[in-house]
Amino acid sequence: MTADDVLIRQVEREDLNECFLIEAACYTTDGATREKIGKRIDVFPEGFLVAELNGRVAGFINGGSTCKEDITDEAFKDMVGHDSSGANIVIFSLAIHPDFQKKGISVPLLKKYIELSKDLKKSKILLICKDDLIKYYGRFGFSYMAESNSEHGGFKWHEMGLLLNEDAGILSSAPC
Ligand SMILES: CC(C)(COP(=O)(O)OP(=O)(O)OC[C@H]1O[C@@H](n2cnc3c(N)ncnc32)[C@H](O)[C@@H]1OP(=O)(O)O)[C@@H](O)C(=O)NCCC(=O)NCCS
Repeated sequence: MTADDVLIRQVEREDLNECFLIEAACYTTDGATREKIGKRIDVFPEGFLVAELNGRVAGFINGGSTCKEDITDEAFKDMVGHDSSGANIVIFSLAIHPDFQKKGISVPLLKKYIELSKDLKKSKILLICKDDLIKYYGRFGFSYMAESNSEHGGFKWHEMGLLLNEDAGILSSAPC
């Protein structure tokens, strides 16, 4: 398998089951429920990409759009407060099925997500991650912002952000 074999495309409702199984395999009990993932597909399919390999969903990335900078709001992951005209995209999940990890699949997936966020005229992409992925996101241009207030799953989280255009200003906690 090479990265060329991977098709990155917008999610379809039929992908729900495979996406949920991947979420559960990657995040176990901390992951989003099937209902939550279904809502993300229904409300903001433009912000939800899957990586397909030989007809199978190997991974996905999803998020919501908001004008706010508080990315620890758990209700937002349920699309409460999602505003398709908001300046920010917040990544909720990036997950590659364990069978397909370490094969380079996340790279075209995340790169395409950055491109689509630019196409949607967003100013920045925000996310929280654990310690071990700070460098990983840094390789895609994300900057470290701050330690997050999130206590999701009882872990320590870090906020990272990527400015998408020069007019977006600086990465700060000021409202957009
Ligand atoms: C993190 C994750 C998305 C990476 O996906 P992947 O397809 O396995 O990663 P890739 O094969 O595309 O790796 C790209 C690069 O990132 C590095 N990398 C991959 N996973 C990493 C990790 N957990 N920590 C640090 N670096 C990592 C790889 O070594 C590779 O570097 P290289 O090009 O120098 O070899 C995947 O492991 C996953 O789904 N994990 C569980 C869910 C998760 O933690 N998601 C992120 C939430 S913030």
